[in-house]
Amino acid sequence: MCGIVGYHGKDEASDKIYRGLKKLEYRGYDSAGMATAGNPSIKVDKAVGTVDNVSPEIDGTSGIGHTRWATHGGVTKENAHPHMGEKEKVAVVHNGIIDNYAEIKEEYLDDVEFTSETDTEVIPHLLEKQLEASRSIQEAVENVIEILEGSYAVSAVLHTGELIAFRKGSPLVLGVLEEEYFIASDVTPFLEHTEKAVFLEDDDYMIINGDYEIYNSGDRVEREVKEIDWDAEEASKEGFDHFMEKEIREQSKTVKRAAFQDRSDMEEASEMIEEAEDVYLTGCGTASFAASLGARYLRDAGVQAHTEQAHELEYRSDEINEDDVVIAVSQSGETADLLSLLEEIEADVLAVVNVVGSTLARTSDHTLYVNAGPEIGVASTKAFTAQLAVLKLLSSTIDERLEEGREELLSTAEKIDDVIDDNSETIRELSDYLVEKDHAYFIGRNHGYDLAREANLKLKELSYIHAEAFPGGEFKHGTLALVEDGTPVITFLKDESFDDIHSNMKEAHSRGADIISVGTKQAEESLIHIDIPEDENPELLEVVPFQMASYLTSVKKGNNPDKPRNLAKSVTVK
Ligand code: M6R
Repeated sequence: MCGIVGYHGKDEASDKIYRGLKKLEYRGYDSAGMATAGNPSIKVDKAVGTVDNVSPEIDGTSGIGHTRWATHGGVTKENAHPHMGEKEKVAVVHNGIIDNYAEIKEEYLDDVEFTSETDTEVIPHLLEKQLEASRSIQEAVENVIEILEGSYAVSAVLHTGELIAFRKGSPLVLGVLEEEYFIASDVTPFLEHTEKAVFLEDDDYMIINGDYEIYNSGDRVEREVKEIDWDAEEASKEGFDHFMEKEIREQSKTVKRAAFQDRSDMEEASEMIEEAEDVYLTGCGTASFAASLGARYLRDAGVQAHTEQAHELEYRSDEINEDDVVIAVSQSGETADLLSLLEEIEADVLAVVNVVGSTLARTSDHTLYVNAGPEIGVASTKAFTAQLAVLKLLSSTIDERLEEGREELLSTAEKIDDVIDDNSETIRELSDYLVEKDHAYFIGRNHGYDLAREANLKLKELSYIHAEAFPGGEFKHGTLALVEDGTPVITFLKDESFDDIHSNMKEAHSRGADIISVGTKQAEESLIHIDIPEDENPELLEVVPFQMASYLTSVKKGNNPDKPRNLAKSVTVK
């Protein structure tokens, strides 16, 4: 969704904000802008497109910035944030949605001339009026929060230099240095400056002016200063052309890191599962495919595990009772569809999450961090394999073979680079082939079906080629009608279902499909085959060539693989 950065300190704010926004562009890149404090009025620069279109040189030592993923109002300069109050004494950036913005306009702001189509613009106007009418900044902010309905993370700068932040349902983190403060949607913008972070809770509001003060419901509150164990280097491209390529290449390291879970954490998680009546695994997008594979791993260990995507599971949340456990899988830990489901249920929640201090991590009953480090590419890669590693380890723990499971994962991790390097010519050939295609179908059975769904999602979100995934058995019940000469049918030839999926592949091949296969055994029908070594954790190896092929196809099509069109890294609206 949108990215927010604020800075208050002794240096030029615009430079720090610009650098921070570059790190947050993965959250949205429809437009960008920044504002710095100055007397008599605030200075603003904003533009359609990426942060590069905004000047990093407006002066002032306190300011805010924004990178936008449009929800209310088109992609125009007028709709870009920051938005200002009429007197230019307040500028605001916002992530989320103000549900009652129309009512606010009518009730409180009928004398105001609006300059954008956004819901956000009500906030600076309200805040400006409240600041005039209140005895203190604190009182004004409280009054504004009282009026707003919806989900939001808001940061505001006043012309006098104070920085304000408040949140409800959307993340905000404070980065703390000596006499310098950052506000951001996540820790990546300030990691190069500080590892000290304070995660704001829902309904917290903060005023920064030389020092920072956090309040909740009128009371001053203390929030723990956490040390973030993420390397700033990991949030940079380190010589790769794109974050995505770097993140694909990091997976041998990140899978190992995911495998080094603390024994007591794993045992606590496995106890939660064993004592539960029913276990549900859920997530959205790529994380939902990890959840689905995780359910298969747990069923292999004898657990009654169900799986469904979070936004659909919410419609039957009343079936989930307090004796159940929900395993919530997420890279960001901020996905609105997932958090919304969790709010509806009374069951204990076990989080399998990447982002330290995220809402999911903080609100769950127990958290297993997958430790993949910052994932900047919008397409999830290393977080997915790290999630699989943790879920597989969980299954091994339940089977009382945690150490063997860990050893197996470490051995799998060693093979990831080899799978990419040994197949590099074939992966390149596959992307040359796919770049010419308008449609592609992915099929698989059982674990292979989840892989087909994930590989399909990677291809379509990066290359914009229309692609669909089906269980191999389902393909012949309708979709086969779309197969003609040269239609790509990408098949996950898993060992355990080889004969059945091979039949499905032959059904497509005999109608003219080009067969692309992946697995330990090649079928004679394959036009292109990606060879995978025998392994205890084959899914972690089978997905990687498709991450790389989708990446290369995206680059060949002239797309930006780190920022696929219309998408955002962390989807904080329903
Ligand atoms: O942060 P989360 O893992 O909860 O995000 C879930 C999905 O939005 C995410 O996996 C999305 O599908 C990715 N773009 C896929 O590459």
